Amino acid sequence: MREPILSVRDLSIVYRTGRRTSVTAAQDVSFDLYPGQSMALVGESGCGKTTLGLGLLRLLPRLGQVSKGEIVYRLKDGMSVDITGLAKEELRRFRWHEAAMVFQGAMNSFNPVLRIGEHFTDTLRSHEGEKRRTRAEITARATELLSMVRLEPERVLKSFPHELSGGMKQRILIALALALEPQVLVLDEPTTALDILTQRSIVEQLHELRERLGFAMIFITHDLGLAAELADRVATMYAGRIIEKGSAEDVFYEPRHPYTVGLIKAVPPVIGDLPELSSIAGSPPSLADLPSGCSFHPRCEWAVDACRETVPSLTVLTPRGEDGGHAAACLRAGDIEYTRKVVARA
Ligand SMILES: Nc1ncnc2c1ncn2[C@@H]1O[C@H](COP(=O)(O)OP(=O)(O)OP(=O)(O)O)[C@@H](O)[C@H]1O
Ligand SMILES: [Mg+2]
Repeated sequence: MREPILSVRDLSIVYRTGRRTSVTAAQDVSFDLYPGQSMALVGESGCGKTTLGLGLLRLLPRLGQVSKGEIVYRLKDGMSVDITGLAKEELRRFRWHEAAMVFQGAMNSFNPVLRIGEHFTDTLRSHEGEKRRTRAEITARATELLSMVRLEPERVLKSFPHELSGGMKQRILIALALALEPQVLVLDEPTTALDILTQRSIVEQLHELRERLGFAMIFITHDLGLAAELADRVATMYAGRIIEKGSAEDVFYEPRHPYTVGLIKAVPPVIGDLPELSSIAGSPPSLADLPSGCSFHPRCEWAVDACRETVPSLTVLTPRGEDGGHAAACLRAGDIEYTRKVVARA
């Protein structure tokens, strides 16, 4: 058995919203990520995807905090470390060297007065250890990274951010995140806001880079098509919890949580006849005021009385593959009549 590169256990993250109030934006999240694997984190807006992604690198905003759980990485030197316990200086050494993130919407947050070359200088200088790179070394490394994402280094390094397209900027962000050869890369909505052809080329690029460099990847998206294409593993989030996880085949072809089924049925297929699309009735609950029992029950056509009372735990349905196989947090997931109908209709 190979060992995971990242093991998350019972992780909860809270945001302080007032003097005495807080909301739990990620609750009891557990999963394993293996070397070279890619995992998609899917779910509706506000379900806690970005919060979890930021938490995995301890990059939460000031009012956000890990309240419980472990985030254990296996480092390049083979040691394991729970980053929830790291001090500031240790975290600084950890980030970008071991795990890096491409932030949601970051395409628009380049410093407009700095040329791209200077962005590389800043990133490489601020995260390097004792040995300070010379200007020539930085240019060489930036050239190498930009070629890796198929951009023309001479032109791009001299450009200001506004002179480049969205797709080019997204590629630059990926190159910057890979600058210090992290083993885990978290990408938050990497293709949102790009046209479909540019999305496609970014996806191909990520495939190719992962194959070549061997990093593991967590990408956050609400685009199920993208998830199906890029992911080995899929985790669905609802109201801060992972409510289903498994291999991409299991989750997409045999979804077992009614919410995952709803998400899949809301997406038109790329080929074939257009079936009847349906959206999920209602809207996600406010984290400050979650329904009792299973938070999805008010929107669920399969809910029974017990669903209003009990919070279902993530239960293994098919122990196939790594990270416990295919699991869903639904009291009815093991129910024969339910599964026959749900799986047949998905
Ligand atoms: N800085 C913050 N302070 C307080 N609450 C926050 C903060 N950031 C996020 N939240 C709350 O945490 C919840 C999850 O937000 P998050 O941004 O993680 O969702 P998301 O799944 O990434 O959504 P989207 O798909 O829109 O990016 C939201 O309900 C939001 O209100
Ligand atoms: Mg988000």
